[in-house]
Amino acid sequence: MRKKIVAGNWKMNTDLHEGLELAKAVEEASQGKKRDAIVIIAPPFTHLAKISEVISDVKLSAQNCASEESGAFTGEVSPAMLRSSGAEYVIIGHSERRTYYHEENVVLNRKMRLAVSNGLKPVFCCGEMLEEREAGVLFDVIKEQLKVGLDGLSEKDIANVVIAYEPVWAIGTGVTASPDQAQEMHRFIRDVLEELFGHDVAASTTILYGGSCKPSNAKELFSNPDVDGGLIGGASLKAEDFIQIVNAF
Ligand code: PGA
Repeated sequence: MRKKIVAGNWKMNTDLHEGLELAKAVEEASQGKKRDAIVIIAPPFTHLAKISEVISDVKLSAQNCASEESGAFTGEVSPAMLRSSGAEYVIIGHSERRTYYHEENVVLNRKMRLAVSNGLKPVFCCGEMLEEREAGVLFDVIKEQLKVGLDGLSEKDIANVVIAYEPVWAIGTGVTASPDQAQEMHRFIRDVLEELFGHDVAASTTILYGGSCKPSNAKELFSNPDVDGGLIGGASLKAEDFIQIVNAF
């Protein structure tokens, strides 16, 4: 059985006080509920340690990590620091990191290796731009992101990796991939995983959909056989909306 996951990516939103309140509200709404899905929140770095003290059912993720273990890298935050601040997961390769901070597949692969070797569970993002979809190269783009990004990871490492398919044209735009578009790409991603790591790994890897996922479309998206949950941006900033998405399972 694959794990179902709903993860909230807060991006660069909330101050510490607001973040604590939001985390508490999500924890409260999810506590004691018997549900299939694991609930994850990814607040900014500065909030992790404090938020880790107010959640227990809800799991904690960072939004990024350094590609180096430690040393003279001003402004960077290492996987070991994230672990010691209470994070269990880390988002790697979000399209905003790829686009605005020029993080390419090779550097993302270094982050992946470092994250797993430090005991973090990476949520590895992949996704094509609108031009790439229109030019018909979407599958090549995704395959390259996965091949290079996951290079050198063992089957054991991959057991702790979550994949998030986030078409760039759907992120923060209000335009969602149709359930068929999502299913088609998730199936393709699973096929690539099978090619790279074998059938068992492919069958057991959680693949999330991200990009304008909200309470009104979550159920339909999650009902696809290869969609195992969502990575939620905007709609994760309101506890009620986020929990409604969680409850779509
Ligand atoms: P969105 O963002 O839900 O606001 O589109 C998703 C993401 O970037 O993870």
